[in-house]
Amino acid sequence: MAGINMRHIVKKYGDGFPAVNDVSIDVADGEFMILVGPSGCGKSTLLRMIVGLEDISGGDMIIGDRKVNDLAPRDRNLAMVFQNYALYPHLTVFENIAFPLRLAGASDSEVNTKVREASKTLELDEHLDRKPGNLSGGQRQRVAMGRAIVRDADAFLFDEPLSNLDAKLRGQMRTEISRLQKRLGITTVYVTHDQTEAMTLGDRVAVLKRGVLQQLASPRQLYANPGNLFVAGFIGSPPMNFLPATVRGGQVELPFGTVSIPAEKVRDVPEDKLLIAGIRPEHFEDASVVDDDKRGKGSVFTAQIDVTEWLGNQAYAYIPFEADETVKAQLTQLERDLDGDTMRNQLVVSLDSTSRISEGDQAEIWVDTRQMHLFDPETGDNLTIDLANAGEIPAKNDPEASARAEKAAAEAH
Ligand SMILES: Nc1ncnc2c1ncn2[C@@H]1O[C@H](COP(=O)(O)OP(=O)(O)OP(=O)(O)O)[C@@H](O)[C@H]1O
Ligand SMILES: [Mg+2]
Repeated sequence: MAGINMRHIVKKYGDGFPAVNDVSIDVADGEFMILVGPSGCGKSTLLRMIVGLEDISGGDMIIGDRKVNDLAPRDRNLAMVFQNYALYPHLTVFENIAFPLRLAGASDSEVNTKVREASKTLELDEHLDRKPGNLSGGQRQRVAMGRAIVRDADAFLFDEPLSNLDAKLRGQMRTEISRLQKRLGITTVYVTHDQTEAMTLGDRVAVLKRGVLQQLASPRQLYANPGNLFVAGFIGSPPMNFLPATVRGGQVELPFGTVSIPAEKVRDVPEDKLLIAGIRPEHFEDASVVDDDKRGKGSVFTAQIDVTEWLGNQAYAYIPFEADETVKAQLTQLERDLDGDTMRNQLVVSLDSTSRISEGDQAEIWVDTRQMHLFDPETGDNLTIDLANAGEIPAKNDPEASARAEKAAAEAH
């Protein structure tokens, strides 16, 4: 096993397109690292450079203690599991798993030992004589992983392995991959555009936008302390609400009224300037179900409820609001960058399932302003971030290099 160190990795395709711009990520030995971002952000390109299926235009790729930039894929000792597992339909499960060993000319006894070891770990023992066509999607996935396991690879690389499966199977396979990775303790890099997969599987998550690393942190850190609007909008479902906001006299003016906010939160935030407030749906509540103690820790405002949805375990309320043109333009651009379809002209508020708020009500809504973020509308930077709990943010750690990378990416788009 080995760690993977990507140092200032650049990829310019033949037509000059800068797909990956100065990305540095250290994957620790045994770590489960996720590469996530919208379509076209360079995830697969980066993964293919680790495996050796794509030339590296700049920077160093280090696996263990070897620089592998010029090594052929077969000399890197990595195992890749693709979106289509490409099992051989005419071979049994046993022979499918054994395939890389046969290729390498292993003896029958070695093949037998290794395949049986892998099939035990993967709970495939009773399926070894079957053909892939007769297996469930999840079992097929395990056969593909078995093939990777028998190679004693230094690391596993996955490129959207679950994207062909239906929602239920995806959930099952997610748990299965997570369990296996922990059991095997093998260094893993996993590409997905699905933020739920990223949050549930990763020890750490690298968020990419247009080939530029935005933030590299644990799921909890990304959720609580997104470095900029892009990360804030990408992580979380339903997504974070963004509202026009202005700080005056230590209070925050929102479209629904003025709310108080802890003083230490706005210490470094400019006053009297148009900002974007970010608040997650779950940081609101029906004020009537909030106890006095909690009530005092946030703020209450009144709003006209447009639509409500009751889901049994919780409820959502939708509250439209007006934003000025600058903020609107920013949010439209953000939605384009996120490749998303969120309606940005309404607040989504998560309510306790016992809430009696209904459509058309003038309702009192409590907001936990301790959890509110304020973003600079021009740069998108989070002005209220707790940097000690935000992992790595290249724009903060090395602003000049990050600005150069962002510029290269912006010029190509
Ligand atoms: N062979 C190529 N030549 C030129 N440009 C390419 C080539 N392959 C990919 N690109 C471009 O590089 C960028 C990154 O592509 P990549 O496949 O890495 O994206 P991705 O993040 O994996 O997206 P997806 O989620 O859609 O798979 C894209 O804008 C793509 O158009
Ligand atoms: Mg891809």
